[in-house]
This record gives sequence, structure tokens and C-alpha cells, in this order.
Amino acid sequence: MHIVGISGSPRKQNTHYMLKTLLEATDQPFEIINLSELKIGSCNDCRSCHKDYKCILSDDMQTIYMKLEKADIIVLGSPTYFDNVSGIMKNFFDRTLPFYFSGKLINKKVILLTSANFGEYIEFDEKGQCKWHEDEKRSAKKCLQVMENYCDLIGLKVFEKIYALHDNGKSEKKKLIKIGKQL
Ligand SMILES: Cc1cc2nc3c(=O)[nH]c(=O)nc-3n(C[C@H](O)[C@H](O)[C@H](O)COP(=O)(O)O)c2cc1C
Repeated sequence: MHIVGISGSPRKQNTHYMLKTLLEATDQPFEIINLSELKIGSCNDCRSCHKDYKCILSDDMQTIYMKLEKADIIVLGSPTYFDNVSGIMKNFFDRTLPFYFSGKLINKKVILLTSANFGEYIEFDEKGQCKWHEDEKRSAKKCLQVMENYCDLIGLKVFEKIYALHDNGKSEKKKLIKIGKQL
């Protein structure tokens, strides 16, 4: 079994921690692809992939297409940006259009994760709850919903989804490991 993790964060912090923790718990071979380190242009709607299921752009996405086809399980991780996925993750979604037409990702298992954090300096209310907790939660859930909508369209089967709020994902460590072990 081979697992491919895709990170839509330009940093190696929260999303990266979540991906790594989950993937290491699987005891299976895995790879993390950091989209920000690669040359991936944006879809120009040339429509070639509608007919021959191939993208004509020659950039790093070509290698990712092969890796996604071979993967048994895909883990998509993005920071929450404006209640949505990051721009680089959205760009990745757009570039998977050939799979929308070929159906090659249909029924592959996917796990979705996001990290949200409204405040650099955490403020706590009188109950010891982070002041932005509910806002972050709402925001993270909206991001996961965007990811789920994408998966529905492309045919990926969502196995689990998880968000982490206002820390580096460590609060969700146990849950991440549990999901990893189930794979
Ligand atoms: C452009 C931008 C927009 C953001 N929008 C939100 C948001 O809508 N909701 C939220 O909770 N956090 C938001 N954040 C904070 C990030 O979600 C948070 O810092 C996240 O943990 C970063 O993950 P990373 O360390 O994996 O990059 C935003 C950050 C940036 C840079």
C-alpha cells in the first residue's frame, strides 16, 4: 500500500505536523508532496484534457499525476485561508481536471485535514477557552467542506476529516494517530 500526502501550506508547521503525525502512524510507505516547493502553473482551460485526459502543461504536476494514480490512499492537508483552502491547494485541485474526465481517482480513499488559527497571540476568556475558538472552528469546517466538495466532484471517497485549531496540531495528535492506524 502506498500513501501520498499533499500539503497546501507554504510552511512546514501546522499542516505539515498533522500530515506527518498521521502518516507516520500508518506504518506504511508514504510520501509528502509540498506543493509550495514545486513548479505548478495554473489551469488555463485549454480543454485538451476533456478529450485525451492529459494536461499539456509541462511542469511538476506531471509527476504528481503519476503519483496520484499509483496511490492507494491520498491525504490532503491545507491551512485554512479565508474559510477556504490555500491558493496553492486550490490551484492543485484545478490541475487535477484531467482526472475529472478520466475518472481515474474514483473511489480512491482520501483523508482531509486542515489547520486554522485566527490569532497569533491567543487570548483566553474567563472559562479558559481561546477567544477565537468558535470562529476558528467555523472557519476550519468551511475549509473542510470545500475539500469535500472537491472530492465529491472528482470521485474521491472521504474516509476521515480532521481540523486542528490555534496550535500546531498537537491537540489532535491522538486523533491523528488513531486515523493513521486505521489505514
Ligand atoms: C492568507 C491567510 C488567510 C487566513 N485565513 C484564516 C481563516 O479564515 N480562518 C482561520 O482560522 N485562520 C486563517 N488563517 C490562519 C491559518 O489558517 C493558520 O495560521 C494555519 O494554522 C497555518 O497553517 P500552516 O502552519 O500549516 O501553514 C489565515 C492565514 C493566512 C496566511
